[in-house]
Amino acid sequence: MIRAAVIGVGSMGKNHARIYNDMEDLDLVAVSDVDGELAKKVASRYKTKSYTEYGDLLAEEELDLVSIAVPTKLHHQVASDAMERGLHVLLEKPIADTLPNAQEIVRRAQEHGLKLMVGHVERFNPAVTELKRRLDEDQLGKSFQIHVRRLGPFPHRVRDVGVVIDLATHDLDVMYHLTEADVVRVYAETEQEIHTHHEDSLSGLLRFDNGVVGVLDVNWLTPTKVRELYVTGEKGMFVVNYLTQDLYLYENEYVDSDWDRLGMLKGVGEGNMIKLRIKKREPLYIEIESFVQAIMEDAQPEVTGEDGMRALALAQALVESGREHRVMEF
Ligand SMILES: NC(=O)c1ccc[n+]([C@@H]2O[C@H](COP(=O)([O-])OP(=O)(O)OC[C@H]3O[C@@H](n4cnc5c(N)ncnc54)[C@H](O)[C@@H]3O)[C@@H](O)[C@H]2O)c1
Repeated sequence: MIRAAVIGVGSMGKNHARIYNDMEDLDLVAVSDVDGELAKKVASRYKTKSYTEYGDLLAEEELDLVSIAVPTKLHHQVASDAMERGLHVLLEKPIADTLPNAQEIVRRAQEHGLKLMVGHVERFNPAVTELKRRLDEDQLGKSFQIHVRRLGPFPHRVRDVGVVIDLATHDLDVMYHLTEADVVRVYAETEQEIHTHHEDSLSGLLRFDNGVVGVLDVNWLTPTKVRELYVTGEKGMFVVNYLTQDLYLYENEYVDSDWDRLGMLKGVGEGNMIKLRIKKREPLYIEIESFVQAIMEDAQPEVTGEDGMRALALAQALVESGREHRVMEF
């Protein structure tokens, strides 16, 4: 039986608790939240213990792993304390609020020989998994561009970081996952329209070292939730709807006869549009299963601390680019 606890049971952490409680061979030993009422409520739902101070939980309970879903600014402190207790850590994304804090988290995990996984949950979205499989099979030929739209209203609970660190890190990780390429430069226009401290809108450009261009359209200003990813390549375009886990393929039509003047003029022609069959599942469930499996098999987690650092470093470069109005080279 693997013994787990969750620190921070707000909107994300309560899902970690639900899933641990649901999994076989896993014991949800306790949850912790500074909001004692909330901690008690979640604990009573899953018939487990609650703590207001996570330090008491770490001191008193026998555990193997902990999920950390406190606000991003606290990731460094809480993850460090958990690793000092010898626990494997599933740390919500983004890995930390600053790069030095992220580096320190990664260093500690290495030092103690512990598994650290960062919760870049979109990698486990079945539509993204299927897209990755098809790109790896070269179904699109050369990829030209990856374009993401992650738009929605402002979530009032997010005060500690801006939209680039909070949301764009999801897509920066997915773009790396899909291309397996490094970024050579980025440029961003950012806005701060309604947030009191940070940017709430990003229009960002990235150039990868394999030639792919990344386009990020991310904000907290749009009155409806949009979560879409487009990959355009030689043979057509894939479209992912992250929310519905739908994956579409728009095929290019090949114009192969000399007399088809209209086809020549049109350039790329419209081919079939195919909705691909996806077996839908909760991405967080798949993520947590993957983390537990990495612990049981002593394998590298599917999303490493380095992956978390890469996404954060790119996000910070975009924030800086937006602030200073200049291209950031890597
Ligand atoms: N993977 C995803 O898709 C996803 C989605 C949302 C949030 N997140 C991440 O999860 C983290 C939490 O975000 P959220 O939206 O759940 O925020 P939230 O405010 O809803 O929840 C955070 C919880 O942490 C608690 N907390 C604060 N300090 C604490 C401490 N010292 N000890 C114990 N509990 C403490 C708060 O009381 C709150 O209940 C953030 O890092 C965020 O980026 C990830």
